[in-house]
Amino acid sequence: MRRIGVLTSGGDAPGMNACVRAIARVAAGHGLEVVGIRDGYAGLLDGRWVPARRAELDAELSHGGTRLGTARCEAFRHPEGRARAADQLRVAGVDALVVIGGDGSMRGALALMHEHGVAVAGVPGTIDCDVLGTDETIGFDTAVGRGVEAIDRLRDTAESHHRVFIVEVMGRHSGAIAMAVGVAGGAEAIVTPEWPTDVSALSTYLLRELAEGGSAVVVVGEGDSSGGAAALASQLRALMPSADMRVTVLGHVQRGGAPSPRDRILAARLGADVVLGLVAGERGFMTGMWHGDVRRVPIAQVACGNQEPAERLADLARALALLM
Ligand code: F6P
Repeated sequence: MRRIGVLTSGGDAPGMNACVRAIARVAAGHGLEVVGIRDGYAGLLDGRWVPARRAELDAELSHGGTRLGTARCEAFRHPEGRARAADQLRVAGVDALVVIGGDGSMRGALALMHEHGVAVAGVPGTIDCDVLGTDETIGFDTAVGRGVEAIDRLRDTAESHHRVFIVEVMGRHSGAIAMAVGVAGGAEAIVTPEWPTDVSALSTYLLRELAEGGSAVVVVGEGDSSGGAAALASQLRALMPSADMRVTVLGHVQRGGAPSPRDRILAARLGADVVLGLVAGERGFMTGMWHGDVRRVPIAQVACGNQEPAERLADLARALALLM
């Protein structure tokens, strides 16, 4: 093996740049060349290569987003697209491809390996923290931090006006962010996409909280069954007309910005290990975290579903707040 290709895919996540930097540095230490690929699988299809320059990678370490760029690529979902991608890798002399992204990106890598024998390896990078086979994903800690900062600020104004704040956080299919933000921010209620939103039970609970505490914060994962914070608020208003309610949607504000130290360290650990795995001759694995240690799991295991946040934080969330 001489040359490793790296791409970032799916939603950008703070720490992706730190991961690419770690990959390039550790690879260089083993006499390997790293070449970046712009805009995820879309860029791979078009052969948009970018050299990994040490000074640029160092400068990008502290930046959020992904300097390589990313995309959600429809053409890559089809066999013809993946055949084109495999051709591009062959022509460019790329011996192994590292994919940094979420579960969909891992499924793409797996297909490339199965259909074309491409040597692939994955690193979990998504703010959602919903990738099977790893306890942590690059970007989650930073996104949770942004959410908690927002809750702290909103609580100041909620308490001052004796209001209910319905705060929407990211996570279309996963309530991991909502639960972590809700627990860390002391939300009175946490609403996730994993369970049905019982609006009537929530309003009863909030009326009690308001009577006792004077204000309340509800954290809503954006994919919840009521339709998100705005829809939930209008349903709640009908059931508790006397409550003064406001809605805040954090949206992509939560995804951008400098990665936290924890995410940078995670990115470095995973980036370093993915290179070591390839150097050791392993193929078709994802490097993740398990109970505090780095471990490699077959991508085939990772690509078959999503990690349930329920196992990790739900009991605690339920003990501290109303969780649904
Ligand atoms: O998967 C990461 C994520 O940020 C989710 O939390 C969110 O639901 C989704 O991406 C938003 O996607 P887009 O950036 O395409 O709007």
